[in-house]
Amino acid sequence: MNSSLTARCVFLGAPGAGKGTQAKRVAQHGTGEAESGLTHISTGDLLREQVASGSALGAEAKTYMDAGKLVPDQLIIDMVKGKIERPEGLGGSAGWILDGFPRTLPQAEALDTNLSGENALTHVISFAVPEEVLMGRLTGRRTCSKCGAIWHIEHKPTSKDGVCDQCGGDLTQRSDDRPEAIGKRLEVYRSQTAPLLAYYGDRGVLREIDANRSPDVVFQELLTHMQ
Ligand code: AP5
Repeated sequence: MNSSLTARCVFLGAPGAGKGTQAKRVAQHGTGEAESGLTHISTGDLLREQVASGSALGAEAKTYMDAGKLVPDQLIIDMVKGKIERPEGLGGSAGWILDGFPRTLPQAEALDTNLSGENALTHVISFAVPEEVLMGRLTGRRTCSKCGAIWHIEHKPTSKDGVCDQCGGDLTQRSDDRPEAIGKRLEVYRSQTAPLLAYYGDRGVLREIDANRSPDVVFQELLTHMQ
């Protein structure tokens, strides 16, 4: 991919499928200034920012997130619309990657309503990983509290326990990466998000990636799909 690429993508997949890992990498990939020009928008990260800021929206969202449930559609749709409408949001850049949105049919329909013509979706990438692999990925995940880098205690360990290799920040474990919450998140994925595969399959924009391979191999295939 080079900096002139224009892509408007949705990364779709179960919790732990690697959407965040790859979205960060694609957004940073490129030549020269090391930017592809794609904006990475993660609804999970936006919600966690709201929780950390102590806002009313964050307090409401946290009860759903910690239980492994989806935050109500209207709240999420309003949040994403706010992002789209800001100049540094979806508009005006070379494109964007939506990571974790949409994940229900009403969210997908709301996205279609807001993005049409030259702003329409170009790619929906489905990250396929067997469910038995996901639990280990999620319980072992650690996230940098300062720069947001994603690590794993086995698959992608830092050189010093609990300290980010990129910025020296402290690593934390997400409150929804407990086995009970993970079980609920997988169930919610099966019942509410997996139906989007048929929704986007019918529109001819869906590409599936076998994401149960090394992050480097997945990344290279992703670039091929997005070119
Ligand atoms: P969100 O933050 O979006 O969580 P998620 O969808 O459950 O996805 P994850 O972030 O858990 O996984 P990922 O696919 O990004 O995997 P990652 O790259 O980190 O949402 C959290 C919550 O917010 C939801 O439960 C809900 O409550 C709410 N929410 C968010 N969006 C919403 C919406 N649209 N509607 C309603 N509610 C919403 O990788 C995981 C681990 O695996 C890492 O440790 C990584 O290092 C490792 N790994 C990655 N790739 C590989 C690989 N190829 N091989 C080995 N290990 C790998």
